[in-house]
Amino acid sequence: MKVLVTGGAGYLGSHTVLELLAAGHEAVVLDDFSNASPRAMSALGMLANREIAWTEGDIRDAGCLDDVLGGGGFDAVMHFAGLKAVGESVEEPLRYYGTNVAGTACLLERMEAHGVRTLVFSSSATVYRVADTEDPAPLGENAPTGAESPYGRTKLIVEELLRDLCAAKPDWRVSVLRYFNAVGAHPSGVIGEDPTGVPRNLLPCIAQVAVGRRELLEVFGNDYPTRDGTCVRDYLHVVDLARAHIRAVEYLERRPGFAVHNLGTGRGHTVFEAIRAFERASGKTIPYRIVGRRPGDAPVTLADPERAREELGWTAEWDLDRMCADLWRWQSTHPEGFE
Ligand code: NAD
Ligand code: UD1
Repeated sequence: MKVLVTGGAGYLGSHTVLELLAAGHEAVVLDDFSNASPRAMSALGMLANREIAWTEGDIRDAGCLDDVLGGGGFDAVMHFAGLKAVGESVEEPLRYYGTNVAGTACLLERMEAHGVRTLVFSSSATVYRVADTEDPAPLGENAPTGAESPYGRTKLIVEELLRDLCAAKPDWRVSVLRYFNAVGAHPSGVIGEDPTGVPRNLLPCIAQVAVGRRELLEVFGNDYPTRDGTCVRDYLHVVDLARAHIRAVEYLERRPGFAVHNLGTGRGHTVFEAIRAFERASGKTIPYRIVGRRPGDAPVTLADPERAREELGWTAEWDLDRMCADLWRWQSTHPEGFE
């Protein structure tokens, strides 16, 4: 297949480009580099041992999409491009709705115009309603949704848009993938997550402490009803996540219509467990301080990944130690990211 990867220079998109190529598919990247470095593209080319076609452009620019899609021959689009910082989405809702919702609508219109009607969409576990119970069940795809932030609502709105599109046009094939906590880096250490500004997510924060970019980690609350008082999350290796996209697009070849799948391991780890795993992987001590809870945090978030196993034939293979080892390889060799 020939696949257009929007946001393909970013964290998840770049890892997926490599897996697409490894599976024998062709990948073309469209990215505006608002949250990625062009160096990611040279690193990708080096890893893949070939030049990777890419265009600098915005998904909200219909003319640019026409140029790329009009080049022809695309079988599918994997749509990673978007904005993803929860706090920022509260401050700048217009930018978030503009890029994530209007940008996706623009992309879908141009896909329809060019007869490309297969899409894999990056959604998030953030679309599930936060459960405050002590021992919540793993989240299946039918669990109640209800996002807590403008970011989460943009994901829910796009999911609804895609569902409506498939109901109206039976020749569309759409796979919505709800990612749990994607972490880690490519095992080569050549590409990885390169957050701009202060990272907000746990593993990037820990990695920056380990490499000396930050003094200590703030642990957001140790009074949750969990085994050690810190929140439990379902961490997923980025390469496992990338490989699921290949399974998803191949699934769409067999089955038209709209599908939703969780991507997670089904296993949870606390913040303290993540710190210890990273200490083992890096040989560094991670100093931390307990601070207050972060508003909106659920005590436990766990995926039920059964549907992805059954329908996509996909299961996450790599555990938290592997995620930390690969993240450390990337972070220790690129202390300032791609720069
Ligand atoms: P990222 O910021 O690294 O990648 C997104 C890419 O899209 C960047 O390269 C950025 O430059 C590009 N981009 C942004 N706006 C664009 C626009 N208007 N036109 C073209 N390109 C644009 O983020 P990521 O972590 O790789 O996430 C990819 C997708 O997955 C996002 O949609 C995000 O919401 C979703 N997601 C990520 C996570 C996670 O843990 N990282 C979890 C759930 C969902
Ligand atoms: C966060 C977002 C979620 C988004 C996901 C992946 C919030 C409320 N939720 O989820 O919408 O889909 O990232 O991008 O922002 N932690 C610390 N110290 C830190 C950072 C995190 O203790 O410096 C804790 C958090 O309280 C949480 C756990 O580590 O318990 C994981 O945090 P994080 O990596 O931000 O992921 P989520 O909370 O799952």
